[in-house]
Amino acid sequence: VTKKILIASTALLAGLGMAYSASAQEIIKFSHVVAPNTPKGKAADYFKKRAEEILGDKVKVEIYPNSQLFNDDKVLPAILRGDVQFGAPSLAKFGKWTKKLGIYDLPFLFKDMNAVTCFQDSDDGKSLFNAMSDKGLTGVGYWHNGLKQLSANKPLREPSDAKGLKFRIQSSDVLAAQFEAVGAVPQKMAFSETYSALQTGVVDGQENTWSNIYSQKFYEVQDYITESNHGLLDYMVVTSTKWWDGLDPEIRDGLAQAMSEATKYGNDLAAELTAQQRQEVIDSGETNLIELTDAQFKDWQTAMKPVWNQFSGEIGQDLIDAAAACNK
Ligand code: LMR
Repeated sequence: VTKKILIASTALLAGLGMAYSASAQEIIKFSHVVAPNTPKGKAADYFKKRAEEILGDKVKVEIYPNSQLFNDDKVLPAILRGDVQFGAPSLAKFGKWTKKLGIYDLPFLFKDMNAVTCFQDSDDGKSLFNAMSDKGLTGVGYWHNGLKQLSANKPLREPSDAKGLKFRIQSSDVLAAQFEAVGAVPQKMAFSETYSALQTGVVDGQENTWSNIYSQKFYEVQDYITESNHGLLDYMVVTSTKWWDGLDPEIRDGLAQAMSEATKYGNDLAAELTAQQRQEVIDSGETNLIELTDAQFKDWQTAMKPVWNQFSGEIGQDLIDAAAACNK
């Protein structure tokens, strides 16, 4: 149930002294797991700013970063309960809700972020906003983070280097299959537990974007980062269909406008932040960057791509073909 609080606003009317008026304010909570200084963190903060500018006192948007409120496995049920109104889990985190979004985890599906944008902006990409409508969830935007890199405590140059190593993964069966394809051992784990798992050696490696490697300081506890760009880590902003449809139309329109502006703002910023934070990681001197030769890159592709066939049934071959056609 949406929490509304009554706020009393005071206005000084010339000649009449103090008059009081009261209005209902919509409190909107947005929970996410990354730091504020990331593409998602900045887009969420921008959404708050614009929503409050557009709608004034009618809304108050509260952003909860850093898994303060919920981890990604808890946030979707929390949205349905009305404990929070928005979340933006990575596209890898929806496996219990829909198999379709598994498309975004297929290794080497997108050769760059332009291909990702092309697919997300297409009718096929947008149709996935409704992939969880039977569960009461609606997607309201795709937010970029970027392409993932591999990190470990030993150099990963060839797929065989990953053999037998344990990798922390997001909760995705596609990602589990991707690591199994190179003989590695995937371990699903919450984002907030990853640093300490790397530090204590519970896992040997992980895959993530430059922004997450930087903001979570994974580079402090990983000796090598292989710039593999082998997969995507992006987000779907989701809300409860029932809550959204039940909003006062003026508020819904204002939030939709703020969301679309925040999406553009964050997605334009993501590449810049990625480049900047990649450089910070390299300049830290705490880890070693491995750049793959063309031949090594192809070896990883060859080793991991069979995963597509494993999941084409549940994702849909047509959807995969449409996404692959975005690589120009
Ligand atoms: C992860 O768990 O590695 C990511 O999904 C975290 C995030 O939200 O970027």
